[in-house]
Amino acid sequence: MSTPRQNWQSKLGFILAASGSAIGLGNIVFFSSNAYQYGGGAFYLPYFIALFLLGMPMMMVEFGMGALTHQSLPLALRRFAGKKGEYLGWWTIASALFITMYYVAILGWALGMMLGSFGSLFEPGVTAPFTPMTTPASSPNATVYFFNMISTWNPMVYIVIIWLANIFILRKGTQTIEAAVRIFVPLMWAFMIILVIRGITLEGGIDGVLYLFTPDLAGISQPSVWKGAFSQMFFSLSLGLGTMTAYASYLPKDADQVNNAMLVSFLNCSFEYLAGVAIFSLLFVFALNPAGTTLSLSFFVIPQGINELSALPWVVRLFGFGFYLLVVLAGLTSSISLIEAPASAFIDKFRISRGRALAFIAIPSIIGSCLFALPYIIDPGLSGDGTLGLTLLDITDHWVFNYSLLTVGFFEAVIIGWIFGADKLRAALNQHAKVKLGRWFEFLIKYVIPLVLLLVIVFSLIAEWPLYGSAYDMPGYGWLASFIPAFWIVFTLIFAYLLTNRKTKEA
Ligand code: ALA
Repeated sequence: MSTPRQNWQSKLGFILAASGSAIGLGNIVFFSSNAYQYGGGAFYLPYFIALFLLGMPMMMVEFGMGALTHQSLPLALRRFAGKKGEYLGWWTIASALFITMYYVAILGWALGMMLGSFGSLFEPGVTAPFTPMTTPASSPNATVYFFNMISTWNPMVYIVIIWLANIFILRKGTQTIEAAVRIFVPLMWAFMIILVIRGITLEGGIDGVLYLFTPDLAGISQPSVWKGAFSQMFFSLSLGLGTMTAYASYLPKDADQVNNAMLVSFLNCSFEYLAGVAIFSLLFVFALNPAGTTLSLSFFVIPQGINELSALPWVVRLFGFGFYLLVVLAGLTSSISLIEAPASAFIDKFRISRGRALAFIAIPSIIGSCLFALPYIIDPGLSGDGTLGLTLLDITDHWVFNYSLLTVGFFEAVIIGWIFGADKLRAALNQHAKVKLGRWFEFLIKYVIPLVLLLVIVFSLIAEWPLYGSAYDMPGYGWLASFIPAFWIVFTLIFAYLLTNRKTKEA
């Protein structure tokens, strides 16, 4: 017997949930480090263009697919493009699971850092470099604290806690998701606004803001900047992951998806720029220089900056605690959506209960997340990442973050543009939209988006050699640089093949 599909209780509930999905580690951890890596002012212009060229239109596509079919991604795509569509849908789900696993691992570390503000993380002390395989330094600072933490098994406990929190929030679907986002989303905005005010009122803070927002026209001629901006846009808006289609599938058919997509993109990008302002002002105030992986900014540089605030020790701790609480809250409202995408896909395909679907996803994924926290030190000189877990995470993130989302976006645009018909989607979206989409929308979906994404993917692949991570000095583990991308591709292709060929249980 089938149960009726769930619904969001209000439009506000949906907007909070979808913007909570979009606003996450991507906005705080990844945006700033990408913006820094690609040169501040050189990054935000391509990023801004990506918002209008790709982000908003693709969000309309993903919302439209969910709301028109009332199905999660694989079965929605099946309606539009038959078996090939479903195959893409399951491939997306499989690939997004890799992201979910390491996303939760990073959240586990953020939880560890949050707890660290009650311990030695924000104790005053001189900067002592982390020396793997020796006794931890006696004067802890953020870097030492972080590496000491990830070279223990403790993060696995934090990871399990984050997984359990996710399952708890997802236990009754939209009802419990909505209850959580009504509290978490306003809280994270409040924390972010406090962080921005603190950052720009510090002497020198405004220089960081200027660095971020002064256009650098020389930088934008590099293709890598565009790839970075496009991948960041997809990840930040939770596109190419199946999440937005799953969330929109709980909306009534007459919801205004054009308005929803504009609102969610606007909220997400505003938050992202606020995070950029807060973080870049701290970087400039303390003349901090992030190096190393994507995570270094949020896990060593920012806490180091917080530690150097001239304030009473308890204020410093409170501020540090607030920062990691913000990261955890923002991350949780995104990780629930990352898990809801496969959960709803399994429920739709096999008509199983929510509890079974969540258990089926969580059990292997908890193990997967824990692999990203393996504490063995394989790179003692820290030429790359130090521990086995962080190395797995860094290399997986490189491939999945940069290629999976854009590839999914490319095929979604081709399916909607050429197989289903961009004109039909435009007509369906316009039926309930206050602001009507013009013919330009069809042109974007059919030609511009597929072409731009294809070019970015091909040029990035050409520039890939030597493989990411192969320069790290990891005696005995050098094979990881080629094994990880090969495993990701083979696993996801087989997963998609098997799931597509299983019989769909009718409602
Ligand atoms: N959109 C989510 C984030 O930015 C996945 O973290």
